[in-house]
Amino acid sequence: MKNYKIAIIKGDGIGPEIIDEAVKVLDAVSACSGFHFKYEEALMGGIAYDMTGNPLPNETINISLNSDAVLFGAIGGDKWDNLARELRPESGLLRFRKELGVYANLRPAIVYDELINASSLKPSVIKGVDLMVVRELIGGLYFGEPKGRDEDKGWNTMVYTRSEITRIAHQAFQIAMTRSKRVCSIDKANVLDVSQLWRDVVTEISAEYPEVELSHMYVDNAAMQLIRDPKQFDVMLTGNIFGDILSDEASMLSGSIGLLPSASIGSKIGVYEPIHGSAPNIAGLGIANPIATIASASMMLRYSLDEAQAADKIDAAIKRTLREGYRTQDLAQFDAKEVCSTSEIGSIIANYISK
Ligand code: IPM
Ligand code: MG
Repeated sequence: MKNYKIAIIKGDGIGPEIIDEAVKVLDAVSACSGFHFKYEEALMGGIAYDMTGNPLPNETINISLNSDAVLFGAIGGDKWDNLARELRPESGLLRFRKELGVYANLRPAIVYDELINASSLKPSVIKGVDLMVVRELIGGLYFGEPKGRDEDKGWNTMVYTRSEITRIAHQAFQIAMTRSKRVCSIDKANVLDVSQLWRDVVTEISAEYPEVELSHMYVDNAAMQLIRDPKQFDVMLTGNIFGDILSDEASMLSGSIGLLPSASIGSKIGVYEPIHGSAPNIAGLGIANPIATIASASMMLRYSLDEAQAADKIDAAIKRTLREGYRTQDLAQFDAKEVCSTSEIGSIIANYISK
């Protein structure tokens, strides 16, 4: 029997509640597949700061690097917002991504037919949307030097090197090959030199993928097109900051940010997390939607563990749960048969997998 070691980082706010449901679902799927999970918990974020004085203890990096994959909840909260920047939960997460070398962040946005009325957009605009934002995650404006601030000035730098663009472009083209074979690369080449390099390098790499159709779009237009006609997109290839913004926008196509998973992959180990944050205002109430985290666990099976069949089982169980009308509160107005708690949704999904 195969054994997978999974590092579990629950984090802050609703992190622990949603991770518990994903683990419940992983156990259900391993019980009917030929493998086992061994979990090891590690600290990151505000809770790590409170317990150790460091939002990313070294032990967390070690545990993660010694695992087959990392399943992560969310970090952050008002409580830590006034700390020095390097002590803030967000800095822990950014350092974590960098240490693990996860340069490619995959953020799928799909519209479940069962929730077609949940989006603020018209059903005709969003029916059948199935796109993937491929976001560069450890470079660009988030990490560029110089950066700093003094009393009257604050500055950050958007830098990309040829090699950073090359590896994320390959990732986007390879993913497009498994999908509808279209890549739209997002930039601001009409203004930024860094974007012109981005555009030139992506165009060069595209020559290696003759079957994939490449287009380029300015980021402001992309923000507009995502709302006007999201079905035109298959893979959207972006730098760090543009992908951060556009993936939140894309998540709203599906009706709730509580539905969308993400995978962060690189040369070492993958990190799987919902795209939403730690929602401290609803932490502990049992009303958070665990589906984004459960879908992230499915991406973990697919991308890090090569267990596509098990991932399919989870995806089918999520769909069935929505089809049968089980909803957490965020989706209660949309054809709900029953409004369920966080743990009830987890149990329903786990149960559909076992049967
Ligand atoms: C995300 C988040 C993070 C980011 C924050 C919490 C640092 O918004 O994963 O999209 O900006 O990357
Ligand atoms: Mg974000």
